[in-house]
Amino acid sequence: MIEISNLGKEYTGTKALRNVSLTVKPGEFVVLLGPSGAGKSTLLRCINGLVKPTDGEVIVQGVPVHETKRLESVRSKVGMIFQQFNLVKRLTVLENVLCGCLAHTNVFTSCLKLFSEQDIDYALQCLKRVGLEHKAYQRADQLSGGQQQRVGIARALAQRPTIVLADEPVASLDPKSAERVLDILRVINKQDAITVVVSLHNIELATKYAERIVGLREGTIVFDQPAASLTESEVEQIYGATEAAEEEELYYKQVTYAHA
Ligand SMILES: Nc1ncnc2c1ncn2[C@@H]1O[C@H](COP(=O)(O)OP(=O)(O)O)[C@@H](O)[C@H]1O
Ligand SMILES: [Mg+2]
Repeated sequence: MIEISNLGKEYTGTKALRNVSLTVKPGEFVVLLGPSGAGKSTLLRCINGLVKPTDGEVIVQGVPVHETKRLESVRSKVGMIFQQFNLVKRLTVLENVLCGCLAHTNVFTSCLKLFSEQDIDYALQCLKRVGLEHKAYQRADQLSGGQQQRVGIARALAQRPTIVLADEPVASLDPKSAERVLDILRVINKQDAITVVVSLHNIELATKYAERIVGLREGTIVFDQPAASLTESEVEQIYGATEAAEEEELYYKQVTYAHA
């Protein structure tokens, strides 16, 4: 359903992705794990067409994403969740979710439209699924971060997506809210058979939630395997923990010698 082959992305002077190939099957829950700068956001943005790759190809449900004519039809099936929630602050929670119902138009146009009773019912159902039906008529910016992210999920659900991409959805949240958000993503993955690709930089959360973990380092996939079989040294590979430890040791040696 998502087929990525030999994907490369170069921003002026920076190679953000190199030769990335990855296939995600329908209904999978995949975590992209990697330190800051590894290329996670770029990869997710290439999948939904927000970023145009320099090399290679992304095919989503049989449609090559970067052959632009059908981009909107691809995007309407791909819900996106962001680290900073990206809600329209001055609108109500319900209005934000309704924006998801109109995936084909831009946010501001769609929010000015009148919504049908059916749309409103569906948006309320989506809010119920994230436990926020009772907040429907509050302004979005009155909610806590965790609640805003759950609105972000409801908005994605209102789009009736087959795929949800979540880019560091819990990086700005406290541990308890983070788990609640990831629990909800897991539920929609299982109950609705929505394919979920979520980027995280927290190893503990990645191993707790992922079925499959794809490790990224400096724009390259360095491992791709079931979460259960991931070893510490494989994780170190992407975080460079060994290098850092060696550097630290060297530093202390120098300090010790300097004082000797
Ligand atoms: N719009 C941009 N212009 C230039 N460089 C960028 C841009 N976006 C990302 N990069 C660079 O590409 C690399 C990968 O970034 P990114 O995909 O954001 O990684 P991650 O999400 O894993 O932190 C980084 O070196 C980053 O500085
Ligand atoms: Mg990022």
